[in-house]
Amino acid sequence: MQNIMEIIKKRESIRTYDEKRPIEGDILAQLEEKVQEKHVGPMNHQVRFRLLDMGKVSGQELKKLGTYGVIKGARFFLLGAVEEKEGSLEDYGYCMEKLVLESTALGLGTCWLSGTFRRSSFAKQMELGPEELLPAITPVGYSAERKRFVERLFKAGTRSDKRKPWDKLFIGPDGLLPLPPEKAGKYQEVLEAVRLAPSTRNLQPWRIIRDEDGDFHLYLKGKREGKRPEGRVDSQKIDMGIAMCHFDLVAEEKGIEGNWHRIEALKDSEPPLGNLEYISTWKERV
Ligand SMILES: Cc1cc2nc3c(=O)[nH]c(=O)nc-3n(C[C@H](O)[C@H](O)[C@H](O)COP(=O)(O)O)c2cc1C
Repeated sequence: MQNIMEIIKKRESIRTYDEKRPIEGDILAQLEEKVQEKHVGPMNHQVRFRLLDMGKVSGQELKKLGTYGVIKGARFFLLGAVEEKEGSLEDYGYCMEKLVLESTALGLGTCWLSGTFRRSSFAKQMELGPEELLPAITPVGYSAERKRFVERLFKAGTRSDKRKPWDKLFIGPDGLLPLPPEKAGKYQEVLEAVRLAPSTRNLQPWRIIRDEDGDFHLYLKGKREGKRPEGRVDSQKIDMGIAMCHFDLVAEEKGIEGNWHRIEALKDSEPPLGNLEYISTWKERV
């Protein structure tokens, strides 16, 4: 993907699709190729994806594949599956966000859905194994010019064009004072890419603490989702994976080498600030 920051800025949730404009064959082929690649997240879980063509689903089945009226006019949906293990939802978020951004780069609209869709019916289309989950899906297609009332309501309700300021998200080595953009050095755009990420109900639960050695520790800030769909998918873990994806892609584009790894000792120790759950650490390779 070229100019990843521009693609990140361009992506927004699209809930109304242009029914009269099918995805061109060559664009669809490019997307399908990406979907079929091997996908492994930073926590080492493999994710498999499928691009579902609703035009090929039989009438009876089609009726069950609903989004409670949230999405309209989409012919294609991207579905995925991952085994239910510690860290696998983060990996799902990471891998699927790459495909979301690939779609954006191809001029296509998307909308992460982890709540407003008939999970069991879509899961049937994925033919899930006994240990597998279908954590989230997204429609894929061209945005309609006119947005519906429902869509405008969603955007206003989640203040989806707004993000928290830097000082609420990024914290310096003492664990208390914010890390301002001018002190982030070459990581300024990397962190900005995290700030611009989509998240469940736009709650933006990511917090990053940079320590004295320059490592970045990613935490999840609760309040956790009250109601977990079917009890097994914690959507905010998907948000964490999306943030890791944005971090990695922009770091890579800037030629900064490093990777995410989970420090077990941090997992069990008291977080530096209240109500934070440790997720992972990004360490630069020197
Ligand atoms: C993991 C995840 C799950 C989401 N689930 C839903 C959903 O079920 N229904 C919905 O309409 N939007 C859903 N969203 C979209 C968010 O509300 C949206 O990304 C956020 O408000 C920011 O808006 P933007 O994507 O336009 O930047 C989800 C987003 C994420 C990242």
